[in-house]
Amino acid sequence: MNQDLEKRIREAMANPQNIGELAGADSVGMVGNSECGEMLRMWVKFKEENGKKVIDRATFQSFGCETAIAVASLATELIRGKTAEEALALKTEELAGELGPLPPMKIHCAQLVEGALRSALDPQSEATKPAAAPLSAQPSAPNLLDNFTKPKEGGVRLVFLDEKTKGGSQPEADSKGS
Ligand code: FES
Repeated sequence: MNQDLEKRIREAMANPQNIGELAGADSVGMVGNSECGEMLRMWVKFKEENGKKVIDRATFQSFGCETAIAVASLATELIRGKTAEEALALKTEELAGELGPLPPMKIHCAQLVEGALRSALDPQSEATKPAAAPLSAQPSAPNLLDNFTKPKEGGVRLVFLDEKTKGGSQPEADSKGS
């Protein structure tokens, strides 16, 4: 990782935004990366604004990876005030915002954030189903959704965690310390 990026990540990590569970969230998304073991959960709460349902607040919980935390911190700020559709239209590099271009080995960290967001905002989409639709049924233009659904050679694989684990029954991390 170059020093510039390290510095930007360090800056984002110095004051990470929107960490922790969001009480009264309208939706929760969770993804895991089976290769690096990182897991990210995202909570989203909506509000009505000018007759539109927009994201009031989003928070996240992540374990370990600084890049994912830095991106999630920036992304949860970025999506405030956007509709679910607008937030879903953001590309990975847009979510990473001020961090700028990520090196290839760190792109999956931002994709993890995008996956959690997608899982929260559009849990029924083909992209968030573990058994994705056949690639031939997907749009031909390569996009970021493909990154989640196409197995990558030598790359990492995101796992969209089961819908049942998102709501009431919280994994062990939440029950600790309460
Ligand atoms: Fe895997 Fe960052 S190292 S999410």
